[in-house]
Amino acid sequence: MINTQGYRYEISAAGRVNLIGEHVDYCGGKVLPCALSLKCTVYARPNGTDYINLEWTDLQDKISLDIRDLNQYRELRHAKYQAGCAYVWQQAGHELKGCDLLIDCKVPFGSGLSSSAAIEVSTIAAFALIAGEKPDPVEIACLAQKAEHEFAGVNCGIMDQFASACGKKDHAMLLDCKTLKCEQIPVKTGGYSLVIINTNKPHSLVVSKYNERREETETAFSLLKRKMDIECLADVRPFRLVEYRTSLPAIIYRRAKHVVDECERVRLAVEAMQNGDMKRFGQLLMESHMSLADFYEVTGKELDCLAHAAWDHPACAGARMTGAGFGGCTINLVKTNSVEEFKRKVCARYERETGYEATCYNVEIGDGLSYHSL
Ligand code: GLA
Repeated sequence: MINTQGYRYEISAAGRVNLIGEHVDYCGGKVLPCALSLKCTVYARPNGTDYINLEWTDLQDKISLDIRDLNQYRELRHAKYQAGCAYVWQQAGHELKGCDLLIDCKVPFGSGLSSSAAIEVSTIAAFALIAGEKPDPVEIACLAQKAEHEFAGVNCGIMDQFASACGKKDHAMLLDCKTLKCEQIPVKTGGYSLVIINTNKPHSLVVSKYNERREETETAFSLLKRKMDIECLADVRPFRLVEYRTSLPAIIYRRAKHVVDECERVRLAVEAMQNGDMKRFGQLLMESHMSLADFYEVTGKELDCLAHAAWDHPACAGARMTGAGFGGCTINLVKTNSVEEFKRKVCARYERETGYEATCYNVEIGDGLSYHSL
């Protein structure tokens, strides 16, 4: 039981799962994430000092951050997220007040379900409330992304933080990452359920590999921009890219091919969802995974094994890795009446082939940022 006595606000932000549109957010593409009912909750109260005092429900550490010199905390292990949030909040010209924060994060760490975005969004919203401001979810998402760039060293896109802040129960967000225009699409999966399976593989290379992929897409964009009238890589249509195949270095072409094809798949997947065509939706999930494996090279043995085991199961319409890759989770579209048997079979095969024990979660799509006074 968490002792929240004396705290003034309770703020929650969500983890997320991306249905489709992977590794396209930082290329200006559209993505289709959902906020999960797995949350990070922050309990907050002002303390009248120049310090942010941090405590966690599941860690022994207690850390105090001096709000007059936040730059010194870039290398901290856990508290760098809160320090980064405080830093960007201050840099954006907001008032940062000393406060006590108790952090209760139920989004599993390192799972690719965006625990860091949930921590960042809830923390910045806490700073806003303590400063007497009404939290603005879109501004908070953008600041949270900045904190991730500056303090966590991940040159991420906007998808995770936006989903964590702006998600809506039972809806997926069709988010245009070029304009931040967002359309809430009701998630209707007919007789199918969405199941998340965690590889439980520690993904240590994710930061460096992620940043490397992002640079490769930037190279693709700068080379193609000389030849076409485009504002971002996602503006390139698949048939146009093929015309330039020989003028791009082979590896850059493969990365770009994933991006432009994936953008097309997002469009088709939304259509399939709106037509209630789950078989088609599932097939697009599968194509997305294959492209992430073959052209983008961000899956690895464990994610491939989980995806293949799912594809081989007769009750599965489709499955793919979700998030940055190199470990983390798959998302699976499975006939509702076979979910339990599916989980058992897929997890048993995964353990046999990789030695890791997988964890399953049923997807419950929740709201993004929410808060109230205590
Ligand atoms: C991570 C990043 C996102 C996005 C995904 C891949 O989750 O934080 O911005 O790029 O990877 O789609």
